[in-house]
Amino acid sequence: MTRDLMHQDDILAAVRRAYRAIPAGAGRAMAGRLYQSLADVPDAAVEWSLGVGDPVRHAGLRPGERVLDVGCGGGIDTVLAAREVGAEGHVTGLDMLPEMCDRARAAVDEAGVGGWCSFTTGRMEAIPLPDASVDVVVSNGVLNLSPRKSRALAEIFRVLRPGGRMCVADLTVEEDLPPEVLTSDSAWAGCISGALSERVFTHKLEKVGFASIEISERMAFGIDDVALYPLFDADVLDLMRRTIPAERQHDVCAGVIVRARKPS
Ligand SMILES: C[S@@+](CC[C@H](N)C(=O)[O-])C[C@H]1O[C@@H](n2cnc3c(N)ncnc32)[C@H](O)[C@@H]1O
Repeated sequence: MTRDLMHQDDILAAVRRAYRAIPAGAGRAMAGRLYQSLADVPDAAVEWSLGVGDPVRHAGLRPGERVLDVGCGGGIDTVLAAREVGAEGHVTGLDMLPEMCDRARAAVDEAGVGGWCSFTTGRMEAIPLPDASVDVVVSNGVLNLSPRKSRALAEIFRVLRPGGRMCVADLTVEEDLPPEVLTSDSAWAGCISGALSERVFTHKLEKVGFASIEISERMAFGIDDVALYPLFDADVLDLMRRTIPAERQHDVCAGVIVRARKPS
């Protein structure tokens, strides 16, 4: 199985290095394609947008709910979720990089929703929150980055209350990518090397205990689309153009919305 070509610690270090080094996200061009409305979202959060979908739009958040945004990055979804749950609710942003948490904190303050948001630095594979402490987990372009996805999903399951739900945007890949791409640090940081197929993603969710699993809203990403993200350097884009068959180059992966419920 080619997906295990890199050591977990090497992947984690490569992802950390890559996200520390980028000067900004994919910006308004990509965010404009992913989100239906960005009215009143602070510019900096839009510029730092690095996601692959609009999970908050599909999460059905209600006033008063407690939400966890896993891998909050610059905070675009934290702001959107905080607007939905209002001051009676709460949104926690989790990111392994303290600088991302700082950016997200500045974004929620600028958006006027900071009073019911908090941030914590930590890893999705060991979420620093108590069991059954949130109603909804959202996440955008983050699970792909974990070399220990079953562990990350088990952590999401643990922190959800019974009857709670997750709604995440993530990349899926239906046909194995060439090994040269799978072992590229840049392609790992860009989320495609760690992407699962829909079938494997569903299977992992079932094994962790989730029910009502639903995958929808497939948006194809080609090489020209992923090139908009600052994580893909010229070498890896060139490698992808040389090694991925021409007929697949406009449809290398898909941004999908994955919804599931923790049984009551
Ligand atoms: C592709 S970006 C997405 C950011 C944000 N969700 C968005 O939509 O703009 C991935 C984010 O996940 C964070 N991250 C990567 N691996 C992580 C891990 N193991 N635990 C927690 N955060 C992680 C990165 O620091 C980065 O901010």
